[in-house]
Amino acid sequence: MNDSRFRKIREKLQQLGQEHVLRFWDELSEAQRAELAEQVEKLEPELLRHLRQLLREHLSGKRPRGDLEPVEMVRVPTTDEDRARHRRAQEAGEEALRRGKVAALLVAGGQATRLGYPGPKGTFPIGPVTERSLYQYQAEKIRALGRRYGVTPPWAIMTSPATDEATRRFFEEHDFFGLDPNRVFFFVQHTVPALDPEGKLLLAEKHRIAESPNGHGGVFEAIAESGVLDQLAELGVEVLFHFQVDNPLIKICDPVFVGYHVLENAEMSAKVLKKRDPYEKLGVVGKLNGKYAVIEYSDLTTEEMEARTESGELKYWAGSIAIHCYNVDFVRRVLATDEGLPYHVAHKKVPHVDAQGQPVTPEEPNAYKFERFVFDALQFAERAVFQEVLREEEFSPVKNATGADSPDTARRDLTRVFAEWLEAAGVEVPRGDDGAPLYPLEISPAFAEGPDELRQKLPAGFKITGPTVLE
Ligand code: UD1
Repeated sequence: MNDSRFRKIREKLQQLGQEHVLRFWDELSEAQRAELAEQVEKLEPELLRHLRQLLREHLSGKRPRGDLEPVEMVRVPTTDEDRARHRRAQEAGEEALRRGKVAALLVAGGQATRLGYPGPKGTFPIGPVTERSLYQYQAEKIRALGRRYGVTPPWAIMTSPATDEATRRFFEEHDFFGLDPNRVFFFVQHTVPALDPEGKLLLAEKHRIAESPNGHGGVFEAIAESGVLDQLAELGVEVLFHFQVDNPLIKICDPVFVGYHVLENAEMSAKVLKKRDPYEKLGVVGKLNGKYAVIEYSDLTTEEMEARTESGELKYWAGSIAIHCYNVDFVRRVLATDEGLPYHVAHKKVPHVDAQGQPVTPEEPNAYKFERFVFDALQFAERAVFQEVLREEEFSPVKNATGADSPDTARRDLTRVFAEWLEAAGVEVPRGDDGAPLYPLEISPAFAEGPDELRQKLPAGFKITGPTVLE
């Protein structure tokens, strides 16, 4: 490496108070030096100062939070009037899908640490009977939309440096699950450095600064900077249907939700469901200082969690399940604001090398990571729709290896939903004493995307006598 490049990076690090990053320089190979130099050159001084400031505020316990109030929601229909309104929303959503105005947008940059699974979470085999992966389910649901509406929505997928290569390879190995590869758009989110409690950068290796994905809120800048937002706009897309990788019950591009969003001229919308209990760890939807917001459960006071209305319902019952619609124009508008989306600080375990160059795998959180959350964009929305949906029908995420929100509960819920479809189609489903289906069931969205299509396609005299797959 030439002297002037080295001097420049050293100077930059000195100005930032981070010279220790070059601690092992003499031991590095030429290639490693180049790699480290590149990382230092990419460091944004403004961002680093900002993150250190945030960390100081976080550590001093200063967590300014405004006044919270509930917002109006579209509830699950109970009256004829509600149902008529629902149908109007569905028709509007279907029209938007037929006209190619909707794209699916998946955020899949997370590292599945809680699940303890080595690959990207989307490659996880979740089929109750087969090894069908989360990605395959999603792809088949998108193909089903194409069957139904004549236009297959384009699919944008955000990865991170940790998941990008393996995700693309998985799609290629599976021939994009029958989708047109020209309508699947991968893009990579940015990373931000982790900091120790003193605000110092950590070295993941002697030649590499520890960085992590900048949160699912990184999706706005990443989709714009990658050019994918423009490509979607050129295809005529106006609304992005945002979802997470981990929920096999997801109704991708749900026409009812899209329809409410469109009919209300909303800029950003969210699906919500009733929290199981006041303390369930879901962000809740409300207004903060008069602006739409999702407030993380950790930022709610016990009083707010337990507050009830006159009718006895929780005042803040509406948990966010991280499903959104937002407009292409809205993404551009948010990116044009000065402040953008805020960073949140989280205390995490960050493996690193210590001052002697020894690798450390911490047992306890040792450093701070910084993440943006997509729902913080709600504060910029002039208009928003919050639609209540039923947990049993739409939400069963795979978060943990065992217990609640695990592969077991997700497979059980898939089987339960498929059993209901089969029964609606007139098939007898053997059930045990507890009422649960006796055998695991699996219906590929490539076969049927709901009870109606299932009824049309089922062979006459269809019977269930053991684990069953329809594909
Ligand atoms: C999230 C929400 C929570 C919501 C729950 C519903 C936050 C802070 N919390 O919790 O309000 O109730 O989902 O399931 O969002 N991801 C990226 N890049 C990143 C980080 C995450 O793409 O840098 C993606 C992941 O791949 C995943 C999704 O975002 O698809 C959610 O990440 P995860 O960390 O699992 O969020 P939760 O803490 O479960």
